[in-house]
Amino acid sequence: MSKLAIYGGKPAVPAGAVKPWPLIEKTDEDMVLAALRSNHHFFGPECMALQEEFAAWNGNKYCITTNSGTAALHMSLVGCGVGAGDHVLVSAYSWSASATCILHHCAIPVFVDIDFDTVNMDVNKIEAAITPRTKAIIAVHLHGLALDMEKLMAVARKHKLMVVEDACQSPGALFKNRKVGTFGDCAAFSMAHNKTLCSGEGGFFVTNDPQKHEKAKQLWSFGETKAPGEKRDYHAHMIGWMYRNNDILAAFGRSQLKKLDYHLKVQKENALNFHEQIKHLASKGIILPFEPAGYNHTWYEYVVRLDMDKTGWKGDPGVFRDAVNKALMKEGMRTAIWQRMILPEMTVFRNKNAYGLGVPWSVDNAGEGVEYIPEQYSNAIRHSRTHIGINMPLRAPNGPETIKLLAEAYCKVLGNLDQIDPEKINKMDI
Ligand SMILES: Cc1ncc(COP(=O)(O)O)c(C=O)c1O
Repeated sequence: MSKLAIYGGKPAVPAGAVKPWPLIEKTDEDMVLAALRSNHHFFGPECMALQEEFAAWNGNKYCITTNSGTAALHMSLVGCGVGAGDHVLVSAYSWSASATCILHHCAIPVFVDIDFDTVNMDVNKIEAAITPRTKAIIAVHLHGLALDMEKLMAVARKHKLMVVEDACQSPGALFKNRKVGTFGDCAAFSMAHNKTLCSGEGGFFVTNDPQKHEKAKQLWSFGETKAPGEKRDYHAHMIGWMYRNNDILAAFGRSQLKKLDYHLKVQKENALNFHEQIKHLASKGIILPFEPAGYNHTWYEYVVRLDMDKTGWKGDPGVFRDAVNKALMKEGMRTAIWQRMILPEMTVFRNKNAYGLGVPWSVDNAGEGVEYIPEQYSNAIRHSRTHIGINMPLRAPNGPETIKLLAEAYCKVLGNLDQIDPEKINKMDI
């Protein structure tokens, strides 16, 4: 084996070998420049066109473009009628906004552990988490893999719960040949800089229900009943935010949307190619991701876990994982530890005091019986401490040559875990 770069060896991935995301082409430049020169820089024709095009692409009747996926999540909850003191179920392992969006409307997050194999919410644990106050479930489709929406919808309908899909990471993911964002009552997508459909920042709220669309639209723009473009009365009928997208970013989003199917195709080809070249690491203590039957995984993020029983390391798994990740980065990789804490560990939940005076948990004693005890989410904890992910390097314009280098780096480091000395490596400033 060649010497690891962390100990002074030659990096497996030379500088400049990995092309940055997203690929900017002339169509992107032309469309953004036209929007810039149009003298229409707020919500306007580009935003309207983007909404229509995304709704057509995903198969939704209504779509509102927003300035973030988080805004679209908040709008989804409001569209579904979630309000102060209601309980909302959500995965214990996700981006913070999957759960802070619940606090935004003074409702209470109740966490459900993940299924370790898929990293998504364990749908078999939903029923046990339902309380008399539960109003909705946020179904997060993580890393490009859909949840089992058949089981989730059956539990939701049995208990008369609303379903919001957090599809921020997963446009194009399929469950039984149906796109995410078309199963629940409302759904949210993100167009942030690292997303497969990317416009720097931005997002979409989608639904098929005209009433949910109307409620979400009010929250989106100052609580007004009229959307920009319609004759406005400048009257805040309800609490509202400023969640609107603008025409310059919408033009970027439109040019990227034209390439989304191609980007999803390359992302999948690259991930499967990468997987093929590293799959032998399964015998060396590396737990590899997989695509379950009946699903189309988009491979937004390719995530491996360290099987700690096989590494020989007896200390904190996170310390060993961080050392492995540093060794990968020194090989020239741009890997990511996505969430090193699970949501019930985060201070905003544990303090139970988002707005002062214990609000929203203190509202009508709604927080009674809701505890945030991280140990109760053992699969999420294990995943958060042992995972290493890779996303943007697996996307276009990177192709087989780059993937070969990335796989070499993984094999060099993950195939030689006995070389990893966390005490030495974690002292290095990388
Ligand atoms: C699962 C998930 N939900 C919600 C969000 C929030 O999206 P945004 O950053 O566009 O607000 C993200 C962003 O990374 C995410 O990964």
